[in-house]
Amino acid sequence: MIEESFDPDTDCRLEKVSLDDVSDHIFWTYSKCKPRDMQNLGYISRTSHTLPVSIKLQPEFILQAKLGAGVSSPTTDSGRRHRRTFRSQSSEGGTLEFDISQSLELLNSASESSTTGAVLWQVSPLFAEWVLAPKSVFYNLFVGGNVNVIELGAGTSGVLASAFSLFMFLSQSGLYVATDQEHLLPLLRKNVKRNLGSVRQTIEQITHASDPPLYNSLTMQEDLRTLPTKSLHRKQRQTPARQQQPQCPQIEVLELDWERARSSTAYIRSVLYPNTDETDEFDIVIACDTVYNDFLVPPFVETLNTVASNRTHILIAMQMRSHEVQEEFLTEALSNDLNVWYVLPEHLSDSMKEGFAIYYIRKNINT
Ligand SMILES: C[S@@+](CC[C@H](N)C(=O)[O-])C[C@H]1O[C@@H](n2cnc3c(N)ncnc32)[C@H](O)[C@@H]1O
Repeated sequence: MIEESFDPDTDCRLEKVSLDDVSDHIFWTYSKCKPRDMQNLGYISRTSHTLPVSIKLQPEFILQAKLGAGVSSPTTDSGRRHRRTFRSQSSEGGTLEFDISQSLELLNSASESSTTGAVLWQVSPLFAEWVLAPKSVFYNLFVGGNVNVIELGAGTSGVLASAFSLFMFLSQSGLYVATDQEHLLPLLRKNVKRNLGSVRQTIEQITHASDPPLYNSLTMQEDLRTLPTKSLHRKQRQTPARQQQPQCPQIEVLELDWERARSSTAYIRSVLYPNTDETDEFDIVIACDTVYNDFLVPPFVETLNTVASNRTHILIAMQMRSHEVQEEFLTEALSNDLNVWYVLPEHLSDSMKEGFAIYYIRKNINT
């Protein structure tokens, strides 16, 4: 559960956007953060069936992870067994490496359902790497333990679920629900399952010096769809993370169709909390590259409103490819009881300063 210490109005890295200044804001962002060459629209590859993805971990992250895990002295011994998935360079941080399967068949099919999620889009790994940097605006939202996250429009890569499972491994708590349309879920599950193994090995690397290793009893959940139950969540909320038995990250891969926001959200809650009407709120909603089609803007905004509570932190990362769609999104959000803040580009990573925008959104925080 996230402490209520994050105040977007006093955070100098965020700038509030209001209905009156949406047009100016869009003009300013497109002038100042001119999108890069957009020839490939923002996908990484539409010809590779498998894609290697590297996510850099800052030295500060490694240090905090070691301290959190009770590792007393830094180690440079990364262990030969895990060299493929995690490279630690002493005080230079490390790299989390994933292998992603893409579905070129689906991408090139004439399916009436969305096909964009069949491949990985640039903003997701950039966003994951940025959030995992302890100096980033939102890092502290993820590290408190017992954090419930839901991702909208996750696609099939599972990059964010896999990367942010680091926080769950380290806190031994939390829930991550990756959602998209139903036809994308089997590949999403497969990618998450495969890359969770890499994350676990990374954790073992980070905590290598502990004796015995704190996390060596972690096992990968075989069935990613059926783990969490209400009673488990309640127990987590009530018990300090460090006193619990080590657990594998609780990652759900579930259907959530924005055009059926209410019934889809009800379905998700019924899966997460099968035996009761009581549910925990989501602490964080994440969506990467989900603002790209004007037709989808109203259902997407409705979904944000349906999934989030007044306490929920909503993080939207987008590739700036259409100022019209971006403006429509902001206008729709601001007209529907959502408050919006823009992350000033100087606080983004160098790779995101041009051509990407990140918004922080809350429901009715000031009313
Ligand atoms: C550009 S892709 C981004 C995928 C992923 N987030 C990434 O960054 O690689 C847009 C995503 O939005 C999803 N999407 C489109 N319409 C949707 C809807 N009605 N309900 C749920 N997801 C939808 C697509 O399936 C796709 O996965």
